Amino acid sequence: MYRTHTNGQLRAEHIGQEVTLAGWVQKTRNKGFMVWVDLRDRYGITQLIFDAQRTQKDMMQQAQNLGREFVIQISGTVIERESKNPNIPTGDIEILVSKVTILNASLTPPFTIEDTTDGGEDLRMKYRYLDIRRNPVRENLIFRHKVSMAVRNYLSGQGFVDVETPYLIKSTPEGARDFVVPSRMNQGQFYALPQSPQTFKQLLMVGGLDKYFQIVKCFRDEDLRADRQPEFTQIDCEMAFVEQEDILNTFEGLTRHLLKEINGVSIGAFPRMQYDDAMRLYGNDKPDIRFAMEFGELNQVTKHKEFNVFNTAELVVGIAVPGANSYTRKEIDKLIDWVRRPQVGALGMVYCRCNEDGSFKSSVDKFYDQEDLAKWAETTGAKPGDLICVLSGQTNKVRAQLSALRMELAERLGLRKPDEFAPLWVVDFPLLELDEETGNYHAMHHPFTSPKPGQMELLETSPGEVKANAYDLVLNGNEIGGGSIRIHDKQTQATMLKHLGFSEQEAKAQFGFLMDAFEYGAPPHGGIAFGLDRLVAILGGQETIRDFIAFPKNNSGRDVMIDAPAPLDGTQLTELHLKLDIQE
Ligand code: AMO
Repeated sequence: MYRTHTNGQLRAEHIGQEVTLAGWVQKTRNKGFMVWVDLRDRYGITQLIFDAQRTQKDMMQQAQNLGREFVIQISGTVIERESKNPNIPTGDIEILVSKVTILNASLTPPFTIEDTTDGGEDLRMKYRYLDIRRNPVRENLIFRHKVSMAVRNYLSGQGFVDVETPYLIKSTPEGARDFVVPSRMNQGQFYALPQSPQTFKQLLMVGGLDKYFQIVKCFRDEDLRADRQPEFTQIDCEMAFVEQEDILNTFEGLTRHLLKEINGVSIGAFPRMQYDDAMRLYGNDKPDIRFAMEFGELNQVTKHKEFNVFNTAELVVGIAVPGANSYTRKEIDKLIDWVRRPQVGALGMVYCRCNEDGSFKSSVDKFYDQEDLAKWAETTGAKPGDLICVLSGQTNKVRAQLSALRMELAERLGLRKPDEFAPLWVVDFPLLELDEETGNYHAMHHPFTSPKPGQMELLETSPGEVKANAYDLVLNGNEIGGGSIRIHDKQTQATMLKHLGFSEQEAKAQFGFLMDAFEYGAPPHGGIAFGLDRLVAILGGQETIRDFIAFPKNNSGRDVMIDAPAPLDGTQLTELHLKLDIQE
């Protein structure tokens, strides 16, 4: 038996007991006549004591030579500590060691295994197994486990069946590029890894399974960010015989359950917002509504003066920043530099101070008088003491820029509190989105999403105006889930694919299996998928999903620990019938 107890278990009540413990050496303090060792495992730390008066000489020496991260097993007696440590649960006791066995030595770790470490991101990723020994990383993984168990239990309790779908499939378009896998047995042919199990879950509904879920890996070859990984996990769900309302209720139930069970927070009915309103009021389809700072459109109240920048702009829009009239001129200049960074891309920013005495002072006083500025304040909801920030230009661009500024200022003002939760359904998305580069429409959610009832005809005349039966669940400014009611008849699916630029042949080749299935009694159905990594990070009060993934990829999509991706050797390439013409 390696151990009688874990390192988080022993208390004063165990004093006098003989115990055996195992774990890693966190640190040693050597006073010559006395050696203390902190022994660590997943459950905590227990202090060991070796003392020249009571410990044999050779064991004293052995203790002095124990290095950081050695794996040891010890036996000894639980004794009361002379100086107690109220900061750890085992702080009242220590173990007077009578036997030490070194189970495995360790090289000196490349960074400290402490809550705050001196290791940079790259080093920690290269030695991720050491990083996982640190409390914050281990706790995040255990937290993720708790969330995913709560999801499984809840959905299973609601009658959802967990079904596995294949990974070696054909492209399922979700808007990213596919990762592909060459087939050895089918020369020149490739599988695609699923961007989601979308078509399979729909086929399970045709198969009569009624309620499906799966906690499943998805693969998307896209540019990476703090909230995106090339392989990530979805809580993927589908239901038959449902309308949008049924889906929203069911998954609002799941989310409310998680917030209660995991965070102890009770939340009432989730607010709903139309996509158009989200864009108008927050410049964003995933607004963080923990704080207000809603957009005020100022075209009407600015256009009658001689300020050409505003007069020629498609949109003039501002936000009131609470209490920010206290910003110095220098601070405001820095803010202007911030919005002009290429990542944000604004040309400049007009501002207006709202003084405590009710007067205003703007950066465009030459053009606008106190009466004009009072209207700005009214439109943006600014109060005395606030600062109004105004951007102008092409609608889509300005909305994105002001949205970025809104989030940045909220962060600086401490308005994005990690322990406050503000869920929001965003509904009535457009069905199609115009790709400004190519001029083509593509499905905003995916090609299997149905238009709102009665809008199919609009597809011919004004495709950009058609609304979809699609919805997103937003939590604290992050899209944590998205779904839709699906098309379930062949003709509508064919029309939809035609509008997305598929020829009849292409549509048949890529999605013939699905459209064929629709001809054998496909029930009305719909669903949703949550991003588990994002959900876990946000419930955990953070936004970087890497911290909640055991072995994440870096921003170039590399696993620096196993050094992947990597070249294949010649034999493998030949077997796969692949010839590369990359210059070495
Ligand atoms: P969608 O593409 O919106 O929908 O994805 C669902 C959710 O998955 C998460 N997500 C990601 N998380 C981490 N890294 C990524 N690269 C990444 N991409 C997406 C997001 C997102 O809300 N089949 C549809 C669902 C449906 O219609 O039922 C789908 O995949 O949180």
